[in-house]
Amino acid sequence: MAKKMWSGRFEKATDKTVNDYNSSLPFDSRMYAQDIEGSVAHSAMLARQGIISQEDADAIREGLLSIKADIESGKLTFDSDAEDIHMFIEEELTNRIGDAGKRLHTGRSRNDQVALDQRLYLVDEALDVIELLDELIETITDMAKEHLTTYMPGYTHLQRAQPITYAHYLTAYIEMFKRDRDRIEAAASRANISPLGSGALAGTTYPLDRESVADELGMAGVTQCSLDGVADRDFAIEFASAVSILMMHLSRMSEEIILYASQEFKFYELDDAYSTGSSMMPQKKNPDVAELTRGKTGRVYGDLISLLVIMKGLPLTYNKDMQEVQESLFDVIDTIKGVLPPFTGMMKTMTIRKDNMEAAALGGFTNATDLADYLVRKGIPFRETHAISGKLVHYCIENNTTLEKLSIEQFKQFSDLIEEDVYDAISLETCVNKRTLTGGPAPDTVKRYLDNQ
Ligand code: ARG
Repeated sequence: MAKKMWSGRFEKATDKTVNDYNSSLPFDSRMYAQDIEGSVAHSAMLARQGIISQEDADAIREGLLSIKADIESGKLTFDSDAEDIHMFIEEELTNRIGDAGKRLHTGRSRNDQVALDQRLYLVDEALDVIELLDELIETITDMAKEHLTTYMPGYTHLQRAQPITYAHYLTAYIEMFKRDRDRIEAAASRANISPLGSGALAGTTYPLDRESVADELGMAGVTQCSLDGVADRDFAIEFASAVSILMMHLSRMSEEIILYASQEFKFYELDDAYSTGSSMMPQKKNPDVAELTRGKTGRVYGDLISLLVIMKGLPLTYNKDMQEVQESLFDVIDTIKGVLPPFTGMMKTMTIRKDNMEAAALGGFTNATDLADYLVRKGIPFRETHAISGKLVHYCIENNTTLEKLSIEQFKQFSDLIEEDVYDAISLETCVNKRTLTGGPAPDTVKRYLDNQ
């Protein structure tokens, strides 16, 4: 086993089990690019401040870039007993350029280094997630534009409630996903602050120029307390929480996809390329993408809870427990990046059964409220019209018919104020088209909303 950089005060080598247990290289190696980026900026600043020579800084930069190139070409692999990616790269650098490599870590600790790497990594990945989420928002916005007058039942308690349109249904998710996007963006912008210069916990006596390093790394500023800079991982928790809320929305939509694609609803037909079959039952076509999305929501919640619990009892500042933050954060990132592309593809390719949606909207007495409102306009108080409409629904159920199919004579048995104009008042089109308030289902209202996206 290679000699540890910190072995000066030790008399024995680390036990193999401890070394394996302690090592984060198997998972933190994915932050190699951010680690190198941070080290290049740090060493350039050390030279600018006269802390190391320009020649050393140049050698460090060249060495680090050659390490990056070799990792990316596969020439350099991570099969090493190094403690973490930071040690791995520093050891490799010193092997390549000698003494100059040993000057890189001046005025820096792995504590501020790892906090920086995680922040940079999170910001990079958040941009990818936002791009994937934008594709989903765009996909459902396009679908909504196609379905401004596709009527469907709106539900409460999963019971048919009032008629809406499929476009109106989709705008609910457009709104949710837009808020998710904002939350992810806000989490990334709060993460985009440099902790370098915090040292191990108490800053450093070297005259570092923290601001210029942050600038070079494209970060918006520097952390304002060295203890906080190394001790907190709230940026990871905030991101995981934003993604958890996004997953909650995706999961609700998935639940509806699963229901709507069933033979009981038949609102959706999933594309063959986005569904799966059964090894035993030849007729099956399963909504696996939606089910997995629903399942992976639990997984992301688990990561969020892990992060919260890992951090909750830690005395300031750095504690090794915090190394565990990385795997949960990475799992959140990998999961959401795995979820979004097939989910968007599934939405984009499925067939919307307009006919079945409309039949369901007609079949569920979803116009009963509008019938009550019609009688209000004839001068009867709403509480009474609610009862009249309810009795008419009951009559229809007994006689196996629907409100709009009743004859005027049948209507008049319940209220002699009902006239010919009732049919227009309770038609699906009227029920939807009259709901023109901002946020309502009327096609013009929804179109205006979509045109502003
Ligand atoms: N691999 C470590 C982590 O992820 C890096 C920081 C180590 N710092 C220390 N004081 N041992 O947390």
